[in-house]
Formats: sequence, structure tokens, C-alpha cells
Amino acid sequence: MTEAVQTSSPFTPRVFSGIQPSGGLTLGNYLGAMKRFVDMQDEGSFQTVYCMVDQHAITVWQDPEKLRHATRELCAGFIAAGIDPDRSILFNQSQVPEHAQLAWIFNCVARMGWMQRMTQWKDKAGKNQQNASLGLFAYPALMAADILIYHATHVPVGEDQKQHLELTRDVAIKFNHDYGVDFFPITEPVIEGAATRVMSLRDGSKKMSKSDPSDASRINMTDDADTIAKKIRKAKTDPDALPSEAKGLEDRPEARNLVNIYAALADSSVDAVLAEMGGKQFSEFKPILSELAVEKLAPISTEMARLMQDPAEIDRILGHGATQARELATPILKKTYDIVGMISS
Ligand code: AMP
Ligand code: TRP
Repeated sequence: MTEAVQTSSPFTPRVFSGIQPSGGLTLGNYLGAMKRFVDMQDEGSFQTVYCMVDQHAITVWQDPEKLRHATRELCAGFIAAGIDPDRSILFNQSQVPEHAQLAWIFNCVARMGWMQRMTQWKDKAGKNQQNASLGLFAYPALMAADILIYHATHVPVGEDQKQHLELTRDVAIKFNHDYGVDFFPITEPVIEGAATRVMSLRDGSKKMSKSDPSDASRINMTDDADTIAKKIRKAKTDPDALPSEAKGLEDRPEARNLVNIYAALADSSVDAVLAEMGGKQFSEFKPILSELAVEKLAPISTEMARLMQDPAEIDRILGHGATQARELATPILKKTYDIVGMISS
């Protein structure tokens, strides 16, 4: 990562990432995304820009009051997890109209065929694609705009976003090629660590998700200590003891998932965890994992609840973040308009 920053790229090392305010945050969001956003902020080699992507959320129906609440709660989650609004730009997408403005241009750059290949589109639209919103189909062009409106060079995400980031690169390459410029950076995805794909606690072949109908399948950031312990106790496992090496987790998706979660929470590696825990039965390992999960998550959910008592302060932080974001986005949009041949003031 640091290597990429040291290359001779003309672009400022800048991180952008986003999370949808479409319900509560899960342990998957925390380990696959938020915790790594904090690490990249603290590491100090990047300017960091983090966004609540409310315009992405409405590609499927959202109750307006719930959307507003979820956006504030997500902002509280970012701050409670360690994002500092004085060191990172923290804002919600709809307050920065340049995202949607650039997305229109990218709608005219991206091809229908690219969108049709997106697995998330196929999953979310399901069998009745004709009834899905046009926004759900065009979603990856808006995501490319989110990133490229800041000339972001690095994007930390979970594994499920890899295909969308490849499309972002394709949009940048095609725009640069069609207009004969070297204007948009070819963004690097940052998909690293033990928990880039946290799986359901009930089914090791399914991603842990806020939209899973079973609450027992996920740990929510707002779950209390008892609930976390209960969900881990009930998590699906196999009858064997933990192996001492990572290759012993092959074909044991549920066991691998719990070890990955432990490693990510402990800031450790799977090898180091197994060197210590190898030979233990799940009856012994699960309480150790619960204790660590509660130790790491409880302070975050307590702080989230505290911040949520003052929604006006959250709105102030978001407003300030939007002003900062627009300072970066405005000149990039203006230059894009110039390149495309639009008259801008
Ligand atoms: P979303 O909640 O879909 O907006 O996702 C926000 C971020 O969390 C994205 O970077 C996702 O890749 C990441 N994420 C969501 N679910 C998981 C999961 N189960 N494991 C790892 N990362 C995840
Ligand atoms: N599509 C991402 C998700 O569902 C959220 C997102 C929107 C995003 N725009 C982004 C992530 C830009 C990274 C960069 O998780």
C-alpha cells in the first residue's frame, strides 16, 4: 500500500469509501470496512474521505424517516469507531450534488453490457429485472462518480465490491481514452486483512448482511453483550477442534469464519490465532471470541448511543463535511465539464 503511494502518480494519495445508510451496521461492515477506514486515517499517508451514500440506498425503497435516522446513526457509527471529523472528511452523498452531476456523465460513458454483468445487480434485481429501479441498474456509475469526483487513488472495501471497483477503473480508462486526456486516476482497490468477507453465523456460504431476514445470522453494532454472546454461542460450527494451521480450515467455512473474525478483532493473523488456539474445541473457543467481540464492540455501541442523543450536532458535522467535500469536488467537476465540451461558469 505504502509502495503504491510512493510511485510517481500525479494524484494526491486520497482514500474514498462509502457505506449505505440502509439499516443497522453489522460486524461485516465494521471489520470489512469501517475499522480499515480508521486504520487508513490513522496511518497518515492519505487524505481520507468517507461518505454515507444515501443516494445509493434509495435504489431500493427506503422509508424516508428510517433513511434519515439510519444516515445519522451511520455517522455516529463512523465517529464512534474512530473516524475523526477533524482529520477525515465525513459527509452524506446527497449534500454534495457533484456526485450526481458526474454520475450523469458516467452514465454516458459506461455501457449497458457492463452494468448487465454486475453480480450485485443480478442478485438485487432478482428474477423480475423489469421491475427493478433504473437507479439500481445505473448504481455502479454513481459509485464510480463518488470515487472519481475526488480523484481518489485508493478505495478500501469488502470483497463484495471488487467488481464495482473494476468497473470504476473501466469508466476512468474509457473517459480518458474517449476524450484523449489523462484526467481520472485508475483507482486501486484496497481489499486486505482477515475479514474482507465476514460470513453469516448461520450459513458459512452466505455473506453476513444487514438484509438477511435472520437476525441470528449477524452481529449488529448495536447488539448488547448478552446478545453478542448468545449469537456466537449459537453460531453454526462443525464437531472438530480448531486446527493449528490455516490449511486445516479448508472446507470448514463456519470454522474459518469464526477464526477470521477473531483475527480481525484482535488485529492479528489467522496463522497467529491458530498457533495459539489450535486444538481447542468450539465450546472453549466461542466464549473467548465472545469476550473479545464484546470488549471491542461495546464501547462503540455505547458511544453511538451517546452521539445519537444529539442529532443536531450530527447534522452540523455532516454539513461541515459536505462543505469540505464540495471544495474538492467543484474544481474536478468544472474541469470535467470543460473536457466534455460543456460551458460552465
Ligand atoms: P454496505 O453496507 O453494503 O454499504 O457495505 C459497506 C461496506 O462494508 C463495503 O465496503 C462492503 O464491502 C463492506 N461489507 C459489507 N458486508 C460485509 C461482510 N459481510 N464482510 C466484509 N465486508 C462487508
Ligand atoms: N456500493 C457500496 C456498497 O454497497 C457502497 C459505495 C457507494 C461505495 N459508493 C462507494 C464504496 C464508493 C466505496 C466507494 O457497499
